[in-house]
Amino acid sequence: MPATATTSVRGQVRDRDWWRQAVVYQVYPRSFADSDGDGLGDLRGVTEHADHLASLGVDAVWLSPFYPSALADGGYDVDDYRDVDPRLGTLEDFDEMVATLAGHGIVVIVDIVPNHTSDRHAWFGEALRAGPGSPERARYLFRDGQGPDGDLPPNDWESVFGGSAWQRVEDGQWYLHLFAPEQPDLDWTNPEVREDFQRTLRFWGDRGVAGFRVDVAHSLVKDMTEPYLATDALPDEFLDHGRHPFWDRDDVHEVYAGWRRVFEEYDPPLMAVAEAWVATERRARYASPEGLGQAFNFDLLESTWDATSFRQLIAANLDLAAESGTSSTWVLSNHDVVRHPSRYGLPQGLRGEVCDPWLLSGGAEPRLDRELGLRRARAATMLSLALPGSAYLYQGEELGLHEVADLPDEVLQDPTWFRSGHALKGRDGCRVPLPWTLDGSSFGFGADGAHLPQPAWFGELAVEAQETDPDSTLTLYRAALGLRRELQGPEELTWHRPDGDVVHFERPGGWHSVTNFGPLPVELPDGSVLLSSAPLEDGLLPPDATAWLIAG
Ligand code: NOJ
Repeated sequence: MPATATTSVRGQVRDRDWWRQAVVYQVYPRSFADSDGDGLGDLRGVTEHADHLASLGVDAVWLSPFYPSALADGGYDVDDYRDVDPRLGTLEDFDEMVATLAGHGIVVIVDIVPNHTSDRHAWFGEALRAGPGSPERARYLFRDGQGPDGDLPPNDWESVFGGSAWQRVEDGQWYLHLFAPEQPDLDWTNPEVREDFQRTLRFWGDRGVAGFRVDVAHSLVKDMTEPYLATDALPDEFLDHGRHPFWDRDDVHEVYAGWRRVFEEYDPPLMAVAEAWVATERRARYASPEGLGQAFNFDLLESTWDATSFRQLIAANLDLAAESGTSSTWVLSNHDVVRHPSRYGLPQGLRGEVCDPWLLSGGAEPRLDRELGLRRARAATMLSLALPGSAYLYQGEELGLHEVADLPDEVLQDPTWFRSGHALKGRDGCRVPLPWTLDGSSFGFGADGAHLPQPAWFGELAVEAQETDPDSTLTLYRAALGLRRELQGPEELTWHRPDGDVVHFERPGGWHSVTNFGPLPVELPDGSVLLSSAPLEDGLLPPDATAWLIAG
């Protein structure tokens, strides 16, 4: 019998919908806290800092991969889905972490990576040894190459990290890897693959996790019918619904229907949130109650700092969530994108998906207005925390950390850096280990350095530095999360001021959130101001700020 998952969120017995308006804090374990001084964060580091998470007031922790891994892609290259990387701890450490967090009313969500294993996974070794045509190879997507000697890749598809999506092995065959070569793609038409993942879901469900974050949920099913489409003939993944050969194919939902049956074996059922970079309207199927149940909405994260855009995206996502029977998610930062204070402090026309132009090798730090960026980030965070649905926070955003854009080339770890021929710096700048103390080795991250170097300015943003400062970003997050818990009611929202530079909405109970995106201070509605992201000026809300009020 599966164990009943941890029973409470912040002292409340969890019902099956506990996640609908939860605050979920993403821990990127290697960069959170290092308990044993090897420079790499670990599970005991999370346990030791459970009080930080409790004082912040989060409901759940989502752990990015902590599985054994060569770290070719920050742990998203998994050697074994049912174990802990020895450098990060043991299964006993995992259990202790879950129990400690549960003692604070915080549940744990783990990251599951179904599109690909690592090339060190036992299955991949077996596939290499067993050779072409074997059942071992049929767990992956091996194909013969083109050309008289088969020495050209089967097609010209490119990996997300740059370069060909195919890698040749010694016997001449090629395997598909949509990401790094160390991340061979699984063949999800193979029942053995499907069964093994269900076993993994139960393994963690039985250990008391509350759910899963599903990595590249939209990529599992591929149309491998030959002849393949050439890259320049590939349909646009966001426009050609369901017809792209490897993104967002309709059949992928059969996989998740099977997972749903596993989730429902638990009480309350396990939850899941899909990472699916698909067109907004295609997100509904991933988020449906028959599927994973929830999906990340990255729309705000991709938006420039603009009232009209925020208003439209919020309205569209609330409608979509309601239609698909789920709650919306709100995300401003994660381990894959430039931290939101930096995004908002860059010239707003500049940014691409993850501000790549800024992070070109030799990227131009001076173009960043740090103060403006943080001011807007605080406003955006308060806005998003007032919305109906769940909020996903990324470690360090509660400290107002900026991206570390000037990491020296020789420390970069992201495959994007290597596979772009050192043109793009990639995502290491948002993964620099957290500062806990004002000074000391790695600002309290660990006893002996950090696996990515922290800049000198990290010290003044450390937890210790912000803890007792009434104006700090940490104090703002704690206050906002506390109020949110008190004020949170039904998943409803009423708009005020439907256009212009002010985004103003009301939640049940008279909870107003007002954000000023414009250049001049604006009036607030009547009521008591509960919290503001910047001091009011003569009772007016200044530019780039959010205030919460109770009407009356
Ligand atoms: C999405 C993850 O968030 C990212 O970090 C990773 O590189 C890719 N999936 C591949 O697993």
